Amino acid sequence: MRIAWIGLILAVAGCAVEPPAPSGTALFAENCATCHGAGAGGTEIAPDLTGIAARHGGVFPRAKVLSTIDGFHRTPALGSEMPQWGLIFGDPTARVDVGDGIETPVSPELLAVMEHLERLQR
Ligand code: HEC
Repeated sequence: MRIAWIGLILAVAGCAVEPPAPSGTALFAENCATCHGAGAGGTEIAPDLTGIAARHGGVFPRAKVLSTIDGFHRTPALGSEMPQWGLIFGDPTARVDVGDGIETPVSPELLAVMEHLERLQR
């Protein structure tokens, strides 16, 4: 009986220490700004990320941006200098609706950095 109680207490404690949602702003500054610029406006080596929506008819293409960052979707014409962040970011424990009404599993870091870019669109 005592062992069952200890198990229950550990289970409840485990739920309480869920990690906080990562900061997209901090992730961008740490991992992306060196190539894309501090304000994501682009540099000589990497494209501007503030005009993605403008380049897509005013709609921010969530699925395309997620898959580009993740490493699925590449632009061979521009080279493939960008790391495949899907290999570096954590497990897909968050959910995102890319516009099709379906909640797709995604890494919390990937989601946070995509939402950061979405907010930066001009
Ligand atoms: C080593 C340099 C480098 C780093 C670091 C880097 N990128 Fe990139 N990124 C590029 C290059 C070069 C391209 C264009 C070629 C390509 O698609 O691979 C690109 C393309 C992109 C695109 C597609 C832009 C478009 O117009 O479709 C997105 C979105 C993007 N990067 C986001 C990010 C994010 C978010 C991070 C940080 C988590 C990041 N990048 C880190 C070099 C980099």
